[in-house]
Amino acid sequence: MQDKVANGEGIESWQEVTLVYNAALRQVQTKMEILNDEFQHVHQYNPIEHIKARIKNPESIVKKLKRHGYDSTIENMVKYINDIAGIRIICSFTSDIYRIAEMISEQRDIKVIGVKDYITYPKASGYKSYHMIVTVPVYLSDRIVDTKVEIQIRTVAMDFWASLEHKIHYKFEGDAPEHIKSELIECSRMVADLDARMLSLNEEILAISQARGGDLS
Ligand code: GTP
Ligand code: MG
Repeated sequence: MQDKVANGEGIESWQEVTLVYNAALRQVQTKMEILNDEFQHVHQYNPIEHIKARIKNPESIVKKLKRHGYDSTIENMVKYINDIAGIRIICSFTSDIYRIAEMISEQRDIKVIGVKDYITYPKASGYKSYHMIVTVPVYLSDRIVDTKVEIQIRTVAMDFWASLEHKIHYKFEGDAPEHIKSELIECSRMVADLDARMLSLNEEILAISQARGGDLS
């Protein structure tokens, strides 16, 4: 019987960090692809447009540890950095986000350790997305390591907004001119409006399609 160890305990080198977090990322990605395929099979439609996965680079990890006042040790990385492994799930509609989040939390080997709903409660910047920190068990030869993965779920429109805002944030090192900040907030309102209108349009199409007893896809 393998020992089950707490959050990344026993990880001793950067090579091991990359190995374990990469494994966790691949597992979550595969799980999402399976859910998407099954959804296609049952409902004849894909809730997931696409998936991006990344391992945080060592420089960003060290920078984040420093920002929070921690020494750059492997132990601190594993303990305090929740987004070493990050996966972004892009959907068409806001309703898909909550559907996917629910399907994730229902998976028996995934443990949800934190949720931030920036869709119901957007950030002051206008940022919208649904965040989950989960752990998945990674099976190594001599032990099982529960490994944290940050999952960000957002619509195509929210993703478009976030990538532009991220670029601007970088360019101005977090200190963008006021008119740019307020324009971004206005754009984020437009994103919310667009998402709501696209969702209701889609619901109308589905209702018509069901009434006709066929599918319009
Ligand atoms: P970080 O230290 O930035 O990771 O934040 P956190 O640990 O307090 O968590 P939070 O949920 O606020 O943010 C996690 C991640 O969400 C970030 O690393 C970004 O990828 C994304 N994010 C959060 N806020 C914003 C924002 O205002 N704009 C953009 N473009 N992305 C954001
Ligand atoms: Mg982050």
